[in-house]
Amino acid sequence: MKEILVDLGKDSYNIIVDKGILDQVGTLISKVISPRKAIVVTDNIVEPLYGKIVLDSLSECKFDVKLVSLALGEEQKTLAKAEELYEHLFDHEMDRKSLIVALGGGVLGDLAGFVAATFMRGIPFVQVPTTLLAQVDSSVGGKVAVNHPRGKNMIGCFYQPKAVIIDTETLRTLPKAEITAGMVEVMKYGMIKDATFFEYIDKHLSQILNLDSDALEEIVYNSCKTKAQVVELDETEQGIRAILNYGHTIGHALEALTSYKKYRHGDAVAMGMIYVSKIAIEMGLADETVLKRQVSLFSKLGLSLKDTELDPHDIVRKLYQDKKTIAGKLRFVLPTRIGNVIIDDSVTEQTILNALISD
Ligand code: GLY
Repeated sequence: MKEILVDLGKDSYNIIVDKGILDQVGTLISKVISPRKAIVVTDNIVEPLYGKIVLDSLSECKFDVKLVSLALGEEQKTLAKAEELYEHLFDHEMDRKSLIVALGGGVLGDLAGFVAATFMRGIPFVQVPTTLLAQVDSSVGGKVAVNHPRGKNMIGCFYQPKAVIIDTETLRTLPKAEITAGMVEVMKYGMIKDATFFEYIDKHLSQILNLDSDALEEIVYNSCKTKAQVVELDETEQGIRAILNYGHTIGHALEALTSYKKYRHGDAVAMGMIYVSKIAIEMGLADETVLKRQVSLFSKLGLSLKDTELDPHDIVRKLYQDKKTIAGKLRFVLPTRIGNVIIDDSVTEQTILNALISD
């Protein structure tokens, strides 16, 4: 069992990574939270796979637990869905000490975390992520939110979980497209901070895609370690944490313009990573190798490198609604080489358009 401490003072917690630990969720949570009323929030895809094992594990550890299963997709990560969940919390007579366990992917974790952060001004929650994207990114670091029609994750806050429990064996039941979309966030860590990890991914891609247990554990552990380091430096994204948004500014715009229906988050971020690499090259900050290495990996993953339907001007307009836009200035995370990025406020609209229309 590997543990990573996310050191945030009184809000510190551990990320636990191991194979086949879902039936120990109750015991692992008991180490940080005494038995109490709890709700396991999951979705109707994850529930038949893992709902009972987590529920039983918590019951055995004397939690008074109920399971709530929601119909959920990115387009349903809304305030209306949060309200539906509040109703379940009231029905189960949850109080300020009660616990939410978020069992599922990124959408579920963001929504359940947002509800935990706001119900009675905040109740404890634990993340048990079951998708690659959630295991390597969204379950760690305390960003919780719902979407607004005007933008992704626009209604939310920073609210840290009490623990993140990752069973990498749950990745075996994921559709292949979810693995490839999650791999984009894994690659992100290589791009922003860790060239050696980028090499590891490149070298072991076939093992990873064949769901080799050790390779999966390695990429999840390494990704969480890097994420924890960045979050510890800048919990509320006053500066350096923005590097975790590499590829996300344009990625979010693509998702929002297609109403969160056309692209998986990772697929949109992959295109965003390609576009910002082109921007960095045009600005003389990076050379072609940076682009080529990412294109090569994305192609092996079978991901699109470019959106061919949206109007580039609409994409630029949408960028101005990004949370990172401050006083009308667009903020981009640009690569300088594999393993390093910078945060830049000086990218011109023409440079963005050039990247969006280039081949
Ligand atoms: N997913 C970016 C962050 O957690 O900051």
